[in-house]
Amino acid sequence: ALQANAAPEMPPIPDVQGDVVQADGDFKIKFSIGTTQSGAQYRGLEYFEKIVEQRSDGHIQVELFPGAQLGDDLQAVSALQSGTLEMTAPSTSPLVSMFPKFALFDLPFLFPTPDVADQVLDGDIGQQMLDEASTNGLVAIGWAENGYRQLTNSRQEVTAPEDLEGLKVRTMQNPIHLDIWRTLGANPTPMSFAELFTALEQGVVDGQENPWITIQSSRFNEVQDYATETNHVYTPFITLVSERFWSRLPAEYQQLLRDAAQQMGEYERHVGRSMNDQIKQDLADSGMQITELTPEQVKAFQDKVAPVYDNWRDQIGGELIDQVRAAS
Ligand code: PAF
Repeated sequence: ALQANAAPEMPPIPDVQGDVVQADGDFKIKFSIGTTQSGAQYRGLEYFEKIVEQRSDGHIQVELFPGAQLGDDLQAVSALQSGTLEMTAPSTSPLVSMFPKFALFDLPFLFPTPDVADQVLDGDIGQQMLDEASTNGLVAIGWAENGYRQLTNSRQEVTAPEDLEGLKVRTMQNPIHLDIWRTLGANPTPMSFAELFTALEQGVVDGQENPWITIQSSRFNEVQDYATETNHVYTPFITLVSERFWSRLPAEYQQLLRDAAQQMGEYERHVGRSMNDQIKQDLADSGMQITELTPEQVKAFQDKVAPVYDNWRDQIGGELIDQVRAAS
């Protein structure tokens, strides 16, 4: 297990592009995330910090808080709203109660490839969603990725929906994810990520689902013997700023943060994607059984979860779903 959780090899942090931006005032950003220091998201944040500090010539200082030490995704968002935290980058899923259209991203098997996800997030739909989230004390300035979610469990190898019968699966606090796992025959429980490792260790839940990099950096292989590459949901990270902080920034620095968020997103996607094969190998070396599904096996999961689309079509808007499908 030690080997699987040693800091994985990551692409180097790029040099900073762009000139120094001149503006008045000194500012401090506390930037909190739920994932740990050894994940790709943190690496992206280190790049963000470097860009912002260099290009503001030290007038904006960024301090990073990984591992939900300042609160989980939902708590961090409410700290932004009250102005006690400046930035966070949660998965979109726990935010569906605030922004119902974000449910789009939780639909199962919506993005067949990372390129389609990029096209949607970096295009009109992504911009609409950023606008939608720029309210209630928040300013949304960019996308990065949590990535494709994979199932792990402590009970048995999963290759078909029937293997999920009664399996207690932790989900994010999100109604579409609950619907997905119920529809597949499992027994889902929403839970904050901060409680998850202990819940798996103590057998409160049998399994969980997260991207490979999070499975590795959170050491889930120490408490889960089986993993299946289901790729069932693609989760973006949305980069959020506290409106109270944002409104104090000169326009030049607002633009600098937008640019830095964009560059962070591109780099972080590249880091996460480039590491998946190595991570799977490391997890297998640590004794975890990694199962890759055949196209026919994937189709069995897709067929079984198809009703989830009907259940959420009205809330999300059929036109939006069709637009994404047309991009595929
Ligand atoms: O499983 C979750 O709750 C999320 O994927 C995580 C790891 C907190 C990142 O937002």
